[in-house]
Amino acid sequence: MCGIVGYVGPRPSEPILVAGLARLEYRGYDSAGVAVIDHDGGLGMRKRAGKLKVLRDDLAAHPLPAGTTGIGHTRWATHGGPTDGNAHPHLADDDKLALIHNGIIENFAEIKAELLSEGYTFRSETDTEAAAILLGREYHAADGDLQAAFRAVVVRLEGAFTLLAMHQDHPGLVVGARRNSPLVIGLGEGENFLGSDVAAFVEHTRNALAIGQDQIVAITPEGVTVTDFDGNDVEVEPFEVLWDAAAADKGGWSSFMAKEISEEPEAVANTIRGRIHEGQVEIPELDGLDELFAGINRVIIVACGTAAYAGQVGKYAIEQWARIPVDVELAHEFRYRDPVIGDDTLVVSISQSGETMDTLMAVKYAHERGAKTLSICNTQGATIPRESDAIVYTHAGPEVAVASTKAFVAQITALYLLGLHVGRVRGTLSAVEAEQHVRELESIPAKIRRIIDEEQGRIEQLAHWMADTRSVLFLGRHVGFPIAMEGALKLKELAYIHAEGFAAGELKHGPIALIEAGQPVFVIVPSPRESAELHKKVVSNIEEIRARGARVIAIAEEGDAAVLPHADEVLRIPLAGPLFEPLLAVIPLHIYAMALSMAKGLDVDQPRNLAKSVTVE
Ligand code: F6R
Repeated sequence: MCGIVGYVGPRPSEPILVAGLARLEYRGYDSAGVAVIDHDGGLGMRKRAGKLKVLRDDLAAHPLPAGTTGIGHTRWATHGGPTDGNAHPHLADDDKLALIHNGIIENFAEIKAELLSEGYTFRSETDTEAAAILLGREYHAADGDLQAAFRAVVVRLEGAFTLLAMHQDHPGLVVGARRNSPLVIGLGEGENFLGSDVAAFVEHTRNALAIGQDQIVAITPEGVTVTDFDGNDVEVEPFEVLWDAAAADKGGWSSFMAKEISEEPEAVANTIRGRIHEGQVEIPELDGLDELFAGINRVIIVACGTAAYAGQVGKYAIEQWARIPVDVELAHEFRYRDPVIGDDTLVVSISQSGETMDTLMAVKYAHERGAKTLSICNTQGATIPRESDAIVYTHAGPEVAVASTKAFVAQITALYLLGLHVGRVRGTLSAVEAEQHVRELESIPAKIRRIIDEEQGRIEQLAHWMADTRSVLFLGRHVGFPIAMEGALKLKELAYIHAEGFAAGELKHGPIALIEAGQPVFVIVPSPRESAELHKKVVSNIEEIRARGARVIAIAEEGDAAVLPHADEVLRIPLAGPLFEPLLAVIPLHIYAMALSMAKGLDVDQPRNLAKSVTVE
């Protein structure tokens, strides 16, 4: 949700900023802009509505003066539509100062009214411009001390923000601040960077610093200083980015989504790697943290969207293996209903970005109420893991396509590792049982690869035939239910088709009224070997909808012949234990949503109205 990049150093900043924005574009893509301080000490700025390409073309046609200090922004609109005027940067102090912002300034109206009453004028409908103009005013009050002015501004702001600013009187200086929104520092040789995440600068450096809450950073070519909002120096945590720029490139793929679906096997394998020892789960990050699990009576998983569906799959496994009640809550609902939690509760958050504001606020709330918190996250240095008592990173690698795919399977994998670990700590799972599950989990990457190799072509053909479809339903039972929800969400997001996921048993309680002749319904069919009873029930559910004209596409285990007479199409997945089927059954659904989006000629990586990292509530 808005991408931010800053640069100071010896090189021309504009290409560095634009390349950084290209890597951050998944965060928001309705407008973009850059500002640079040129060699003669002037400030040049360009911003354009539309995708980054529009800005790029404009800069190519009308270059800004060269300058080695700069800031850049790619926007997901909150206050004010996606227009040139509302795009960032916003200028103040007679256009000598430029400021960019990610987040929402909740008290901007009050600040704006104050500034208007003092005679300042506004050129946009954004909340951000109030901060820019306020910074201009404070800059003069602080006799041209940009950092002091910044401190005076941030303490006035309510809400969530990352701000970066620069002033033409101070070439070689970019200041930034963060509260509840992400900002990381990249350390180069004689140059330094700021970014919403490390993707902004990973092609230049993998040495990074994570800034804490309510901190201010100033970067110059020579160094970096970080203070709290009162101006006291603070220590910041260094970390090395574990992936390189190539990992976040499209490579030869037609889209990031195609690349990321093809990486689902590695996402699972890399999340397991280094965490199995002699057939048992050993998660180094949880070493010495057994007390985190010892006194708990319940687990609450908080997450949003796809991550919440991963949580629902994880619930089945954790309850079965660790014999502890698990609830899954949408993070934005959790903290507003006064939930009953305390030090006997472990709150597990799941987030690919580690920045989702709804999830972050749920974690903070749980922490304040005395609960223990554990974060499952894919992004190093992100806010949610930093706010949690323990972290289990997923190792899906950078996920750039806005809709989540490989992170989803990595999240389920991490939850399974956690379930096996907690089961052993609590003594509810024997070493032999745990090892069987571990071996099963280790076999999953190769099985996902087989589905991609053997079924992708057929699924693409199916999607092609269905390009005019207006509504698709998804049914599942047990762990198949959250997979049905995930299949529907992905289709809505990528192909803009009405799609709903249902628990197969729930259909007869109402939704079956939706079934009419030709209605496509994907059904996730449980294994007849492992779950004979559930299999029979699902086959009956299929018959109920077929009798009403539905066109059934079954996702069924290889060798399940019993399903054949009941389905119009059968997509095959390899054999797996019942709890492991979701990691396989979701793959055809991810491929299908991508293929249908492509068949409709849509932008599969950047669907309309969305942003990858949702840093507002
Ligand atoms: C769906 C999707 C979203 C995210 C959700 C949470 O494809 O990508 O539903 O899963 O916004 O995001 P994270 O995992 O970053 O907290």
